[in-house]
Amino acid sequence: MSISYVNGRYLTHADAGVHIEDRGFQFADAVYEVFAVQGGRLIDEAPHLDRLARSLREIGVPQPMAPAALKMVMRHLLRVNRVRNGGLYLQVSRGVARRDFPAPDGLTPTVVMTVSRQKPFDPVAALIGVRVITAPDLRWKRCDIKTVQLLAGVLSKTAAYAHGAGEAWLLDEDHMITEGASSNAWIVTRDKTLVTHQTDRTILGGITRQTILKLADEHGLNCVERPFSLAEARAAREAFTTSSTLMVRPVTHIDASQIGDGTAGAFCRKLIDLYAAYMKKSPSV
Ligand code: PDD
Repeated sequence: MSISYVNGRYLTHADAGVHIEDRGFQFADAVYEVFAVQGGRLIDEAPHLDRLARSLREIGVPQPMAPAALKMVMRHLLRVNRVRNGGLYLQVSRGVARRDFPAPDGLTPTVVMTVSRQKPFDPVAALIGVRVITAPDLRWKRCDIKTVQLLAGVLSKTAAYAHGAGEAWLLDEDHMITEGASSNAWIVTRDKTLVTHQTDRTILGGITRQTILKLADEHGLNCVERPFSLAEARAAREAFTTSSTLMVRPVTHIDASQIGDGTAGAFCRKLIDLYAAYMKKSPSV
């Protein structure tokens, strides 16, 4: 039984809960972060906390506590749950108020944290890619804010699983791939350029995406941030998808189309190794 954090209290997971009038529950008026934990290290903690601060700013919710206090709670929660490998989920909602659309001023934000334990990242196992399906991108026009308003992603990813796939890549009205339901989409073109959608309001600026761009650049790989079409993705040399939970995962098929030879390509293999080494260099908590 794991311990979760709710508004200053450490509670057994079964007893952890928020009020039924919490605006996160009523309106998805809340933002969140998912941190990967590997070998007792919190991966990319600072950029995740920066993105949380940005999301809060964008929806006009005050920082619920000082970053140092937040970090202390995160570390304590990992320690009491003995999580060495897994994830930490952090959600901040606007708070509790009688259900009414306009957000009242002065609410106390609700802060919830939960943890999960998983096997350590295994670069060999990561080579087993995922199939993705494509689905229309039905989300709102501020996908850059990491809100818990995730129904479109839930439905796309459920459809992916129903088709035996591991992720859904989302298509805009022009048949361009924006990103995955819960990951960022990448291709490697025939001329060996890594391509991923630029950060704007149509995608979430993934932290893993940002780290992979940095690692690729440091190792002389050519990257371009631009939209790419479904047709271009189908014809790509390689495809892969990145997130704090999938890390770097090769995409073997997009719908019925096999990508490359249907296995992890050379670029993806290299990035998996670079990312695994990068995680090992993160400070222990
Ligand atoms: N999702 N795009 C979307 C829509 C996402 O939900 C996520 C992450 C990403 C990748 O972001 P990052 O690299 O910062 O994890 C891209 C998390 C893992 C989730 O909702 O569980």
